[in-house]
Amino acid sequence: MKNLVELDKKHFIHPTTSIQQQQEQGPKLIFEKGDGIYLTDVNGDVYIDAMASLWNVNIGHGREELADAAAEQMKKLAFSSTFSTFSNEPAILLSEKITSLAPENLNAVFFTSGGSESNDSAIKLVRHYWRIQGQPERRKILARRRGYHGVAAASTNATGIPEFWDMAGKTETEYIHCDPPYNRTTEETIQSMREVIEKEGPETIAAFIAEPVIGAGGVIMPPEDYFAKVREVCDEYGILFIADEIITGFGRTGKMFAMEHWGVQPDMLTFAKGVTSGYIQLGGVLISDEIHNVLKEKSKGTLFHGFTYSGHPTATAVGLKNIEIMERENLVENSREMGELLLQGFKDIKAKSKHVGDVRALGLLGAVELVRDPETNERFSPEEKVAPSVIEALHQRGVISRPVTYESTDIICFSPPLNMNKEQIATLLDKLADAIQEVESNL
Ligand SMILES: Cc1ncc(COP(=O)(O)O)c(C=O)c1O
Repeated sequence: MKNLVELDKKHFIHPTTSIQQQQEQGPKLIFEKGDGIYLTDVNGDVYIDAMASLWNVNIGHGREELADAAAEQMKKLAFSSTFSTFSNEPAILLSEKITSLAPENLNAVFFTSGGSESNDSAIKLVRHYWRIQGQPERRKILARRRGYHGVAAASTNATGIPEFWDMAGKTETEYIHCDPPYNRTTEETIQSMREVIEKEGPETIAAFIAEPVIGAGGVIMPPEDYFAKVREVCDEYGILFIADEIITGFGRTGKMFAMEHWGVQPDMLTFAKGVTSGYIQLGGVLISDEIHNVLKEKSKGTLFHGFTYSGHPTATAVGLKNIEIMERENLVENSREMGELLLQGFKDIKAKSKHVGDVRALGLLGAVELVRDPETNERFSPEEKVAPSVIEALHQRGVISRPVTYESTDIICFSPPLNMNKEQIATLLDKLADAIQEVESNL
C-alpha cells in the first residue's frame, strides 16, 4: 500500500486534482473493486458511490456481462478503422439503437471517445454546417455561466466556470456566456440570453449549448418553461441548439434523454458517460435530420474531422450491451422512482436542519444546498468550508459525494448508479442527515 501511495505521488498526474494536495497527502482512496453501488478500496473499506463515480456508472459497478461483451468483441475484432467509409457491425448497430431512443429528429451519430471530444465535435460540426450554408461568419458559441462542457480546446471555452479558463488562459474570443437559470426566473434568464445575442450580433452566433440540468456547476434545474423559451429564441435568431446530455443522457434524470421532460428537440445532442456506464470510453454527437440532409447535399470532399477511436468496435459493443441491460432492468424507470424518494428524503432533511436551503432532484440527479439563512438565501463564506466539511463527514460515513463551491455556493451533489434500491436510498439519506447534523453543530 505504502508503495502505491509513493508511486502515485511520484509518477501519476491526476486530472482535476490539487497537485499540492496529492504531494502532501497522497491519493485519498485507491480503489480496488466495484460492485453495484459500492466501491472497495485497497484497505477493504467499502463506500457508497453516490456520484456513480463521475456521474457515469449508470448501471452500477461489477457487471460481468459488460466484461464479457468487451472480451467477445476483442477476440473477434478489437479494433478497425471507421475513416474513409470503413465500418464495423457494433458501431452501425449502436448508431441505429441510440437514434431509436433519442428525440425523434435526431437520426445520425458521430462517435467520439468522451464528452469533451463530443462537444468539440459538435462545435466544429455546427461551424462546418454554417460554412456550407454560406454563412461562415456564424462561428460564436453561446453558452451559460456555470455550465460545464469539458476541457478540450473548444469545450473549455464553452464551459462557463472561469476556474477552467485560468489554468491555461482563455485563448478564444468566439465563446460568449449568458446567465444560467439559477436563482432567476425564466424571463430574467431569457432576457440575459437575448441581450448577449443582440450585443454580439445574431448573425455571428453559430449555436447555443446547454446542459438540460447543469451538472458540475451545481446540479441546477431549469424552470419548466425554460427550454421551450430557449428553443423559441434560437429559432427567432436562426441559432442552432446543442443539448449537452453527457451527464443527463441514458436515464440519469428518469427519462432516457432529459430533453424529453420538456418535449423540446435540439439540433444536436452530445452524449458520453452513461452510454457505456463508464466501462469503456465512448461518446458521440447526435445530429438532426435537417443538418444531416444539408451535410449530405453540401459537404463536399472529405469531412476533415475524426478520431482514431470514432466508432470503436469494442466500445460500441459495450454500449449496445449496456443499453440492453438498462432496458431489461427498467433502469430509466427506476431512476425516476428512486429519484422521487431521494427528493422526498432531501425535503425531510431540510425540515429538520437549520442551514439546508434549496433541495432538488430529477431522477437520480440531485443536490442539497447549504446556506447561512434559508429564508434570505444568504451564503456562507468560502473560508467556512461548509460543503467540503459535509463531504468529509459523508466520507467518514462511507459515502462518496461531491461539493460544488463556485461563487461561494455550498452544494452537495448526488448522482448514484441507477440500479439503487429503496433500502440503499434510505441508508444514503440517513448518512446525509447525520453528516449535515454534525457539520451544523460545529457552525
Ligand atoms: C455536461 C458535461 N459535458 C462534458 C463533459 C466532459 O466529458 P469528458 O470528461 O468525458 O471529456 C462533462 C464531464 O463531466 C460533463 O459533465
